[in-house]
Amino acid sequence: MQLDDQKLNQCVEHAVYDLSASYMGVMISLGNQLGLYRAMDGVGPLSSRELAKKTACSERYVREWLNSQVAGGYIDYDSITQTFTLTPEQAMVLANDESPFFIPNAWNIAASMWLDEAKSLQTFRSGKGLSWDKHHDRLFCGVAAFFRNGYRANLVQNWLPTLDGVEAQLKKGIKVADIGCGHGHSTVIMAKAYPESRFFGFDVHEDSIATARELADSEGVADRVTFEVATAKTFPGKDYGLVCYFDCLHDMGDPVGAARYARDTLDEDGTVMLVEPYADDRLEDNINPIGRLYYAASTTMCCAHSLSEEVGLALGAQAGASRLADVFKKAGYGHFRRATETPFNLVMEVRR
Ligand SMILES: C[S@@+](CC[C@H](N)C(=O)[O-])C[C@H]1O[C@@H](n2cnc3c(N)ncnc32)[C@H](O)[C@@H]1O
Repeated sequence: MQLDDQKLNQCVEHAVYDLSASYMGVMISLGNQLGLYRAMDGVGPLSSRELAKKTACSERYVREWLNSQVAGGYIDYDSITQTFTLTPEQAMVLANDESPFFIPNAWNIAASMWLDEAKSLQTFRSGKGLSWDKHHDRLFCGVAAFFRNGYRANLVQNWLPTLDGVEAQLKKGIKVADIGCGHGHSTVIMAKAYPESRFFGFDVHEDSIATARELADSEGVADRVTFEVATAKTFPGKDYGLVCYFDCLHDMGDPVGAARYARDTLDEDGTVMLVEPYADDRLEDNINPIGRLYYAASTTMCCAHSLSEEVGLALGAQAGASRLADVFKKAGYGHFRRATETPFNLVMEVRR
């Protein structure tokens, strides 16, 4: 068969670019854990010797790491003075843990995918599920860190105000259930913003609930936040003014059953806020870096977890708004509206 050289080169280039990016993930994780980025934040140009001294690391390793960062476009280099600078923009992404653009911790997700590769091989062959708790620990902090960025930047400022009447209710005081809350960042962010309301986070993963409790304590909101181990179809309580799903409904084996159960826990004019990974409805419209990120995670985690639970619908992280609307229709809801979106998330308002 005649090969098209141009197409072959493009494919090789693409694969090498990705291979190089995956190595960079390890460099970013090292830089984060060793405090290399933080030591460069706001101090201007540094030599490798100065950075090594500031971080109590070996100069030869630091120099090679710096070279990798320059080659990867993450750190600026002055060839005359042979110094390295982290710009304020790079610091927002790489050094400042409080920034909504901070990425290094999210590389734990990729690490966990490699560490769990043998389990994924098995699931492909058996067709069986792999529940959330069976993954390597690095998954949980990685996912929490990745989604937390978007919640910090958007949840209170942009998302809740787009839901009809919900912000006013939260200010006045309602009960809020955060289903599949994981480490509880979404719950705690809301609790800090709306002190008159009461927040209940539920998740099947015991370790995540333990971490969420610690977060509520350390953020000073334990008086108005409760975290409990519970499934989406059995969580306790009634008369919730708001039931939320943050990036988790598609992970569930039975999203229709979960939505139906939630319907019965809502008060008269209660709202469901559904936050899902951004996706268009069709594969051909999801051919972009976000689609690629989510389809990959969906393969080894989201579909795998869903298949481990009853029903095993395996919606996938790229279900898209139409399929999500269908879930709520089947669960007996009459109102489903796409309220807003970001490059990473779709936000839906759902009512009885
Ligand atoms: C991708 S994580 C998202 C966690 C969190 N909401 C966030 O945004 O960081 C999905 C979460 O859903 C939880 N989960 C999956 N199936 C569940 C179920 N049936 N009931 C309750 N939680 C569930 C998992 O344990 C996991 O913590």
